[in-house]
Amino acid sequence: MFAGRIDELRTIDRCLIQTKHANPQHFLVAGERGIGKSSILLCETFVARGMIETNDSSRKLNFITLEISLSERDDYYNVLKKIATELKRRVDAENKLRAFTMTALDYLSRIEAGGVRFNRNPGSAEPEDIFNRLQDDLVRVLTSLENHDGMLLLVDEADKAPAEASLGAICKLVTEELTRRQCDRLCIGLAGLPSLLDTLKASHESSVRLFQTMNLKPLDDDECEQVIETGMKEATEKMAFLLLLPPTRGPRFANYLRDTRIFYKNLRILHLRKIMIM
Ligand SMILES: Nc1ncnc2c1ncn2[C@@H]1O[C@H](COP(=O)(O)OP(=O)(O)O)[C@@H](O)[C@H]1O
Ligand SMILES: [Mg+2]
Repeated sequence: MFAGRIDELRTIDRCLIQTKHANPQHFLVAGERGIGKSSILLCETFVARGMIETNDSSRKLNFITLEISLSERDDYYNVLKKIATELKRRVDAENKLRAFTMTALDYLSRIEAGGVRFNRNPGSAEPEDIFNRLQDDLVRVLTSLENHDGMLLLVDEADKAPAEASLGAICKLVTEELTRRQCDRLCIGLAGLPSLLDTLKASHESSVRLFQTMNLKPLDDDECEQVIETGMKEATEKMAFLLLLPPTRGPRFANYLRDTRIFYKNLRILHLRKIMIM
């Protein structure tokens, strides 16, 4: 039931295809709450994994995808931990990569198991060490990707983490290091409220320039109509059997549907009206 967003999907497709050819491009989806940022990320996860084709060709990609979401409570340490945990989860799920030991996560677990109070500031020894280990892990996985086009790291709700979590600096340093090590097959995609741009700048002045930024506007009238039409049609088809129940037995939402004009319109389409009016 996804409608519109053709330009945005094409832009992200291009980022992925460029990344596949060792010329990584990164993107940022900015927009107000509910405008459709997460939906675009989800759609492109399917494209990246090859579950659906790219928008402008019948090409299928084969990326490993890492998906994380940030929150207000995330500091620098948490952001690194979320990426390392997701990397381990994905590597474990890939038969051919399972033999890898992810050193960043092992290191984190050891520190946490030891009950050591963690110094959470960037620049202090432990986070620096975790960061280096995470980079090594990424390089190790990326250089072993024989059957994959590359890796897509998606960070949703990226605006939520405060500037001190240093997301901008993390993206900048990771991409530079991967280029230096000729390991250029990581594409990073961020999504968040428009304030994300300022948060990234505060974390690292030039980090915003890494990303192709897309500012989402509301869907146009035709696209909205398309969503409503498709939604009602799907709902009516799925609910048709419930609507055969007498009003007192059916769930409340079935009764609600019964009362709407659009429902009667769809009932006519499904030729069920006669049965319902009995
Ligand atoms: N392009 C679209 N087509 C159809 N439904 C959409 C589209 N974009 C968003 N939606 C719907 O709108 C709601 C909010 O979208 P979401 O992606 O969660 O927004 P955001 O992440 O910007 O807060 C969801 O229920 C989603 O299914
Ligand atoms: Mg969202």
